[in-house]
Amino acid sequence: MCGIISYYGKRDSVPFLINGLRRLEYRGYDSAGIALMKDGSIEAVKKAGKVDELEKKLKESPIKGSIGIAHTRWATHGEPSDINAHPHKDKTGKIFLIHNGIIENYSTIKEVLTRKGFQFKSQTDTEALVNLISDIYYADGLNFEQAVEAALNQVVGTYGIVAFCSDEPNKLVAARHGSPLVLGVGKDEYFIASDASPIVEHTRNVIYLDEGEIITINEKGHSIRSMKDDVIVNKETTEIEFSIEEIEKGEFPHFMLKEIYEQVFTIKDTMRGRINPIDGTAHLGGIEHQMSRIQNAHRIYITACGTSWHAGLIGKYLIEEYAGIPVHVEYASEFRYRKPIVDSNTVVIGISQSGETADTLAAIRKAKDFGALTVGICNVVGSSVARETDCGIYTHAGPEIGVASTKAFTSQVTVLFLLSLCFGRNKNLSSQTGKKYATALFNIGEHVKTILDGSDSILEVAKSTVKADNFLYLGRGLNFPVALEGALKLKEISYIHAEGYPAAEMKHGPIALIDEKMPVVCLAPHDKTFQKVLSNIQEVKARKGVIITVTDKRTPELEKISDYIIDVPSTHPKVFPILSSVSLQLLAYHLAVLRDCDIDQPRNLAKSVTVE
Ligand code: M6R
Repeated sequence: MCGIISYYGKRDSVPFLINGLRRLEYRGYDSAGIALMKDGSIEAVKKAGKVDELEKKLKESPIKGSIGIAHTRWATHGEPSDINAHPHKDKTGKIFLIHNGIIENYSTIKEVLTRKGFQFKSQTDTEALVNLISDIYYADGLNFEQAVEAALNQVVGTYGIVAFCSDEPNKLVAARHGSPLVLGVGKDEYFIASDASPIVEHTRNVIYLDEGEIITINEKGHSIRSMKDDVIVNKETTEIEFSIEEIEKGEFPHFMLKEIYEQVFTIKDTMRGRINPIDGTAHLGGIEHQMSRIQNAHRIYITACGTSWHAGLIGKYLIEEYAGIPVHVEYASEFRYRKPIVDSNTVVIGISQSGETADTLAAIRKAKDFGALTVGICNVVGSSVARETDCGIYTHAGPEIGVASTKAFTSQVTVLFLLSLCFGRNKNLSSQTGKKYATALFNIGEHVKTILDGSDSILEVAKSTVKADNFLYLGRGLNFPVALEGALKLKEISYIHAEGYPAAEMKHGPIALIDEKMPVVCLAPHDKTFQKVLSNIQEVKARKGVIITVTDKRTPELEKISDYIIDVPSTHPKVFPILSSVSLQLLAYHLAVLRDCDIDQPRNLAKSVTVE
């Protein structure tokens, strides 16, 4: 939600800031703005729409400066417009601020300030904060960073902010509570951003801000203070772990397509050093020291949002089967506000690609408060979920830029497979069965490649169904979450309404929707559910639905009944959900391209949902 980028140094900051906004645009893209300090005064340019619009406006009225802040917005308070775009300034026009998060008590702050004669131009919560800083700064004789801190102490909500003030030129102040910030430390220059992607081409040395920390940068360098503990903290820089190539589209037209194709090796990367097909075992270093507590847990909760929640559902099926521990999968937004049965005998697994999803983080914190052992499964190294859980497993899928999650999902599922293999082998899964399972996982990359090679045939299915207004996705067992995920992918990027259902549930309601205009995607692996799924397909056919079957084995019956068949290589039945997910990603992708949708930045969405 919202991308923050700032520069402090000697260069003209505009090229860096614009390029940085582009890198962060996946976090929000309804408006953008930039403010630059030059010769003790600050100028700003803001524009509704994408970064391209801002760039056009900057070409018409250029500004320059070697200290700058810039922002790309995902609207929470107030529609996307020039006025509501960040940076926001205070009433004196001397303080400018960019903000990611939500100031929950902004209306109270506004009321108090209005009584003092402040006037507000935008509908945003951020304008309340910048004026609160101003009110304190110009009344209390504090220096700028002290005024920022004093204002933040009055704020309820979440923020990642960067601010500067022309009365203290050559100073930049940034703070974090709930929304991520990274400080890049270059040679005589600094970069601050919501994530490391805009920084990596300038320096690999970064410091990830922790909750409640505030940075001040001036001519002498940088200093970081913990506002919570009221002390200066000395933090070492760490090295960014990904390369520029990983965050570029390369030859692909869209990040999403690149990321779909990367699954040939990202799934392998997730397993690297963790799986041994020879003896059929898996080894997860990040949780090893807690394995006995995990295996002896009375219950496991998996908590997550969106696609990660779907991965969690697959995890439930696997863990219950292999570990024999009851697993509850809950939306983090529900878990955090109810009274779940969580104690020290409970393990709570939080799954998150970004590691910054506000609800997932809050659920993890709640679980910790209840004494549970918390385990993170996340993709972004050094993210809040990674840092705040007791132990965890990185998915190692590499940066995911497309808003629709693809490779991160299959890597999350892969981690859950590895976890279940660990559980199984520690319990009563025979080495022979373990070997089959591990070998199938180990070889998955080549099967993903086969699916990608068949992308054109999936394109043909998309061409035939592109006019549909609704899709239904049906699956059983491990493939029910795949149906949910297939439907989510389609909704997100093509804006076609889609629902995922357990195949047998269809007749308890959704069947009423089926007619000759409704494509129904049926996941039909040749496993013990096959005959049951076939019966469900018959039920759809009887209502004239358009049947798109995804299967690992064509049979005469399937060929006869299906309008279209999407083939998935035949391998271990447990691996089908990963392979069929890749097919459904391609189906959603092709449909969205045919409908001329914005693939990487679908309307209204943002990659990392850091507000609740
Ligand atoms: O970063 P997270 O995995 O915590 O994100 C959770 C959801 O916001 C995310 O999966 C969302 O549903 C994606 N847009 C799905 O493609």
